[in-house]
Amino acid sequence: MCGIVGYVGFRSVADILVDGLEQLEYRGYDSAGIAVKCDSDIKIYKSIGKLKNLREELKNHVGEFEKSTTGIGHIRWATHGAPTVINAHPHTCNCGNLVVVHNGIIENYKELKIELEKQGCKFKSQTDTEAVAHLVALKYKQAKNLTEAVRLATKEIQGAYALCVMHNDYKNTVVVTKRNAPLLVGIGEGEFLIASDVPAIIKYTKKAMYLNDNQIATITPNSMKLIDKDGIEQVQKIEVLPWEPVALSKMGYKHFMLKEIHEQPDVVRNNLSGKLHSATEPVVLNEVKLDKETLKKLNRIQIIACGTSLHAAMIGKYLIETFCGIAVDVEASSEYIYRRTVTDENTLVIGVSQSGETADTLTAIKQAKARGSHILIITNRPDSSMAREADSLVPVNAGIEVSVAATKSYIAQLMAFYLLALYMAEVKGSLDNSLVQSVKNELMLLPQKIEQVLANTEDIQKCARKYSGTKDFIYVARGINFPTALEGALKLKEISYINATGYAAGELKHGPIAMLDDTMPVLSILMKGSIYEKLLSNSEEAKARNARMIALTNSTDEKLNDLFETIIRVPDVQEFLSPIIAVIPLQLIAYYIAEFLGKDVDQPRNLAKSVTVE
Ligand code: F6R
Repeated sequence: MCGIVGYVGFRSVADILVDGLEQLEYRGYDSAGIAVKCDSDIKIYKSIGKLKNLREELKNHVGEFEKSTTGIGHIRWATHGAPTVINAHPHTCNCGNLVVVHNGIIENYKELKIELEKQGCKFKSQTDTEAVAHLVALKYKQAKNLTEAVRLATKEIQGAYALCVMHNDYKNTVVVTKRNAPLLVGIGEGEFLIASDVPAIIKYTKKAMYLNDNQIATITPNSMKLIDKDGIEQVQKIEVLPWEPVALSKMGYKHFMLKEIHEQPDVVRNNLSGKLHSATEPVVLNEVKLDKETLKKLNRIQIIACGTSLHAAMIGKYLIETFCGIAVDVEASSEYIYRRTVTDENTLVIGVSQSGETADTLTAIKQAKARGSHILIITNRPDSSMAREADSLVPVNAGIEVSVAATKSYIAQLMAFYLLALYMAEVKGSLDNSLVQSVKNELMLLPQKIEQVLANTEDIQKCARKYSGTKDFIYVARGINFPTALEGALKLKEISYINATGYAAGELKHGPIAMLDDTMPVLSILMKGSIYEKLLSNSEEAKARNARMIALTNSTDEKLNDLFETIIRVPDVQEFLSPIIAVIPLQLIAYYIAEFLGKDVDQPRNLAKSVTVE
């Protein structure tokens, strides 16, 4: 997997493909390649590492392809086989006449490979994708038609895929199809652009068609024919993409991650706009399509998500249970999908995902939907596959997030949960009015408070420098900030590769305390409120084992100076809203440590922005 582009039209194709891939490169990848249809044959160019290596490779061959106007390209995030030139896409059949790029995972590729080898296919790579190239080529021998060959092949392929296929017999044609992986076709004048995500094509057109699962499109410069898996012709809605051509610019920041952290006050403002008018008016959440009577009776919610979105979900659980008195289960999507989960038409199932494409969450959502549950999706991508499955769609409007490490999309997801929990509490009448009003007042003050944190980062930078040599890092918190500890630790390990773990502080003494000594930094997220004193005691216990104690706090309590060797202070904030204020310094600590260590902050090794494989 990672990103696909394709082009059929009148422009010189190589630049379009590489430009398109560049727009997808923020998603994380380890190699890249393109195939272009030249006069007599299809030429393939590949390289490992960044796209600049592919550009260099192309410079050596310009004369070969400059007139070519049809091609496909791919950036790969290795799943089957190491990141090598041989494993990079496009892949070919034995004779090289047929080329394929693929996102997703072919689950039965081993069985296919055995069968294909029996029929004389010689595999060059370790990828699952190569099986598709050989399979379609064999079908082409029978069918003598590329679309039909793709259709027949997809009947034998199991798993998730978005595929683009070209054949040397076809001068200007690309055939595309998909199942459980995103693919869209941008429609221009005398040209079509194919991509796994909008940024790759938005410079050329805002008109596009999203393929449904199992549809196959045969695309030439002046036509696009769409059929379903049975060969029956289809008509698909053409949509106007709600996107502006964005130059993915860092706006003067050293990294996208830092820019995105600094965008968070505006993200909060955007999310409040139109939904929260004043402390005394009810929250407006027209996106929730469950009628109020059903909401009042609702007694069970499941929230499913992965990674950072899972941490937002955990805070969502805390809010909904506290504000609405409804039982909420939170589960990692990858666990949810492989057991018998109890859900039905009386359960509200909430899927949380910044990309809206995470394969595990998408599968989980589909399973719950099949059992009749109402599906509410919280996502930063209202045009994503998950959004398309939603009964209620709550877009979080964080704007495009380029850095692989999620920051502003996390804050936006949290905002969605605050508004949702308040909205449901108001419908149910489950929360004291004065508390509702005070939470709303605090919500409206959040942007200025985040700005205050962002305006004073010297202590955070000093702290990052001081602990950047550590091999391990522990984050502890309790209550609503336990997920903040998990998120702080996740941010640090993702971009600095330091082994960081978040614990519920009460759990320290049940095992992790054994690891503490004078080399171990322990960061306590010590926000004032119901659990403050308890966490202080847990911090004392860690201090007694000589750990290097750090406090992140909104308390001005003098006695903290004796307990902690480093203190990062944040503006005062109500306990319910403290996860938003507390996570900002943690994002920054992770950022500055990674930056100080010279890591690739925006594209950490081994990670992808949108994980479209299970
Ligand atoms: C961490 C991060 C990942 C994602 C996870 C789920 O910074 O970005 O942990 O949160 O891969 O992705 P989404 O939210 O797109 O479903």
